[in-house]
Amino acid sequence: MSEHGDDGDRGRTAAAWHVLVGACGGIAIYKTVELVRLLARRGYATTVVETEAARRFVLPLTFAAASQSAVLDDDVAWSASGGWFEHIEAARRADVLVIAPATATTLAKLAAGLADNLLSAIYLAFRGPVILAPSMNWAMYEHPATQQNLRLLAERGCTVLPATRGQLACGEEGSGRMAEPEVILATVQRTLGALSGGPLAGRKVVVTAGGTREPIDAVRFLGNRSSGRMGRAVAEASVAHGADVTLISTTPMTGAACEVTLVETAAEMAAAVTRAVADADVLVMAAAVSDFRPAEPLEGKIERADKDTLTLDLVRTVDVLAEAARPGLYRVAFAAEAGPRLDRARAKRRAKDVDLMVFNDILAAGIGIGSEDNEITIIGHDREEQVARAPKDVCAEAIVRAIERDLAARAGTGRGG
Ligand SMILES: Cc1cc2nc3c(=O)[nH]c(=O)nc-3n(C[C@H](O)[C@H](O)[C@H](O)COP(=O)(O)O)c2cc1C
Repeated sequence: MSEHGDDGDRGRTAAAWHVLVGACGGIAIYKTVELVRLLARRGYATTVVETEAARRFVLPLTFAAASQSAVLDDDVAWSASGGWFEHIEAARRADVLVIAPATATTLAKLAAGLADNLLSAIYLAFRGPVILAPSMNWAMYEHPATQQNLRLLAERGCTVLPATRGQLACGEEGSGRMAEPEVILATVQRTLGALSGGPLAGRKVVVTAGGTREPIDAVRFLGNRSSGRMGRAVAEASVAHGADVTLISTTPMTGAACEVTLVETAAEMAAAVTRAVADADVLVMAAAVSDFRPAEPLEGKIERADKDTLTLDLVRTVDVLAEAARPGLYRVAFAAEAGPRLDRARAKRRAKDVDLMVFNDILAAGIGIGSEDNEITIIGHDREEQVARAPKDVCAEAIVRAIERDLAARAGTGRGG
């Protein structure tokens, strides 16, 4: 196992974290394939250990493809040559062990300290954080034996993601569904973030996401094309760097790795942000907040009737960024400009007195608002960094690293915050 919390862990990229996924023989293993795909996509070095029963459900080939890495199983363990023992080596390499699905049998083995297959031996040999995602028929799950094993494992420090209620594979209804892959991924991110020990570890970060909706009447609104992806990516990158994150969003963020507050209008966003930043260190305003709103939204519905034209009276919305300003709060804003207008973004950074301004060109095809990718320039007080077209999580990682650099420099110069 790697050493945690030392300087070597600071600012580790995802690829430097090794996630070991133990898959057991339960129907929910089909969701584990998705979990492994998500982990690998996030850049975590991911290795899967399958039990004998797991291999009857999903062939190692599938997990090897999803993880881009060879799968470990009991055959590998017994045929190991060259003087190493796979259960000890795997435990040494891993930073976190996730067991999903955790079957009743494997939970019983872990609780009893049995080491009669590769996965249970790795569990005993591993000294890092363990995440368990149980899944089984509701009666098996609720059985006192299973519940006692789960309690015991939680008392020993394992993070247990409780099974949820719903339709089970056996056709019955009840508790026993494995936590969704996104929820397990979020738990892995939070766990590794806490180990990172970098400048954001333990800091409170508030991120806004999505486009605000300003009501015109009871059914229509004035909105924009923001998907909320950039904000979510920054929130999750901050979690991965150990921050305690609040995401204030206009769109639901299923399975997000952090606490999510849903809002609709600029005024609601301003109120939520002002509340959240009271004890925060960093605010990242990735939301596309409407600059104007209908002066007097109609309670009912504007009827088409005999109208040929309709004039809406608009008034300015609240400036969320300005409202949230307070001494010591590190603020990041976004400037979406029509054209390569870096000059305007630089001027905005100075005018708004923010620590970082993230510029993107809304006229460039395939990037920015509503897209999967972005291409940004991060403008700071004394440096600029360009990130070539890349998925938004890659851009988010660059933004979070820029924040960390500044926070570390502030701490070094005693500027606080
Ligand atoms: C079709 C089938 C489905 C099963 N589904 C589950 C399940 O969802 N959860 C569970 O705890 N056990 C389930 N079992 C039982 C386990 O596969 C069995 O206990 C096995 O020994 C578990 O071994 P492992 O924990 O080493 O993977 C299932 C068995 C079969 C045949």
